[in-house]
Formats: sequence, structure tokens, C-alpha cells
Amino acid sequence: MDMVVLNNGATMPMLGLGTYALYGRECERCILEALELGYRLFDTAQMYGNEKEVGKALRHGGMPRGKIFITTKLYRPSASYARAKQGIETSLNALQLDYIDLLLIHEPYQEAEEMYSALEEAYQNGRLKAIGVSNFSAARYKALSCSCTTIPAVNQVEAHVFFQQRELLKAMKAYGAHLQAWSPFAAGKKDFFNNHALRSIGLVYGKTPAQIALKYLIQMGISVIPKSSHKERIKENIDIFDFCLQEEDMRTLQTLDRGKTLFGWY
Ligand SMILES: NC(=O)c1ccc[n+]([C@@H]2O[C@H](COP(=O)([O-])OP(=O)(O)OC[C@H]3O[C@@H](n4cnc5c(N)ncnc54)[C@H](OP(=O)(O)O)[C@@H]3O)[C@@H](O)[C@H]2O)c1
Repeated sequence: MDMVVLNNGATMPMLGLGTYALYGRECERCILEALELGYRLFDTAQMYGNEKEVGKALRHGGMPRGKIFITTKLYRPSASYARAKQGIETSLNALQLDYIDLLLIHEPYQEAEEMYSALEEAYQNGRLKAIGVSNFSAARYKALSCSCTTIPAVNQVEAHVFFQQRELLKAMKAYGAHLQAWSPFAAGKKDFFNNHALRSIGLVYGKTPAQIALKYLIQMGISVIPKSSHKERIKENIDIFDFCLQEEDMRTLQTLDRGKTLFGWY
């Protein structure tokens, strides 16, 4: 597994399991299967309503806490300093953890600065090992960075071959911040898994379109959190660390970039 060292020295896997829309027993099963297959990073959020199951499965998995990396996110109900403070406790309780590896502000709420103060406090107290944001533009990230003392370590945003976020990646690098891709398969939009370029490059390496898409982002320096509820796909998605895309293939994949969101809700 490739790792990235965040701007505060914490180490994070470059690939993890997304858990959006995984609930109950299915969520627990996917996490246990992923653990068995070598996943160590798990991405959840208060908004997903599954922190309890995620925590429960990880406890059942029996992996030492220090080997697991858990990301969660605070959303609108935590949009004030006091509510964010409470929200951190809510996540720690739901996950049944002493600390969270990475806590993000889910979206650039108007109150992000005061929410972030609560994150900084919990970071100082060791309850959060790293803190960051999600769905922040370069300008919004810059504004927050100017008002805080702990520069956000991660910005988790929509990124996939059709929306490669090159400008934002450059901007985040200038701050020493790491860009992480949500929906690295564009959630299957635009007939993602049948894309001609992904397919034909995959044939050269003996890999699937999904594997080529993930490897492309990782080689750009963007970490990925693909979601799947199928064991064979969870396995397929982590089986990408035994090959490297050649420069020529990276250039071909760069041409797939349409430079705009496929989701449009943020
Ligand atoms: N911060 C944010 O605002 C934000 C927003 C959206 C998502 N996220 C995070 O990012 C994670 C990933 O995003 P996502 O769940 O929207 O979409 P995604 O990972 O881009 O795609 C998931 C879809 O692809 C299918 N799939 C997975 N692996 C496959 C494979 N190898 N071959 C064919 N199909 C495959 C899955 O189906 P099956 O499940 O049926 O296998 C599912 O329908 C989320 O789970 C969540 O943790 C964060």
C-alpha cells in the first residue's frame, strides 16, 4: 500500500474504502472483507449515518488501532464552534474511539472558520490526529488557512478522470495540503466502467478500467476512497500496487478531463 505523509507528519494510506450508502450488516460485512483484503483506511461521515456500524466492524476486525486510519466528517448540524465541539464528541462516541485519524468539515459552510477552531482544539488535545476540509475551492481553502494556526492537512473533493482537479491540486500543493478524491469512479456516471481509453489501457497492463482509473489518480498524487459493496470489486480496487502507468498512458488519460463537476450539488 502506498502511503502519504501529511503536513503534520501523520501517515495516511493512498487508498481506502468509501462507505457512503453502506448501512447495517452490509456495511459491517464490507469493512470486515476490506480489512481482510488489506484496506486500512475507512472513510465515513456523520451525514452517512453509519459511524456506529463502521466502528463496530473495525472493533470486530481485531486489527490494532494504530494500523487503522479512520476519516469522518462534520456537517451542517455542527455548524458553529459549540456545535462542532459537540459534534466531535458525537463522532468519537458513535465510532467508540479515543481518537479520530482525520476529521474534515464536510462542506464550506459559512461557519467553517468557527467550526475549524473546535477542530484545532481537539487536535491540540490529541482527540484528532489530523484535521482538514472537504469540497473547498482554492479560494475558500485560502481564506480558512489565513484565519487558523493548523493548516488543513487534506481537502477531499470530487476527482476522477473526467474531472481531474489539476488547478486545485497545484493550489493545495502550494500549502503542503493533500488532495483526496471522492467518487474516484464518478459513482459510475458517464458509463465509467466501459470507457474506451480506460479499457484499452487496461488491456495493456492486464488491469480493469476501475484499476486504471484509481492508479491514474494515485500517480497524480491524489489519494482515493472507492466504495463497493461487492467483495470481488473491493479486492479488485486494491489490487493496483503491482504496476505503474507509463507516461504515454498518463498523457492519454489526461485528455479525458472535462474540467467540471458531474455532480453539481456543492
Ligand atoms: N466528501 C464528500 O462530499 C463526499 C461525496 C461523495 C462521496 N464521498 C466518499 O467517497 C466515497 C466514494 O464515492 P462514491 O461512493 O460516491 O462513488 P465511487 O467510489 O466513485 O463509485 C461507487 C460505485 O462504483 C461501483 N464500483 C465500485 N468498484 C467497482 C468496480 N471495480 N467495477 C465496477 N463497479 C464498481 C459501486 O458499485 P457496488 O457498490 O455495487 O460495487 C458503486 O456503484 C464514498 O463512499 C464516500 O466515502 C465523499
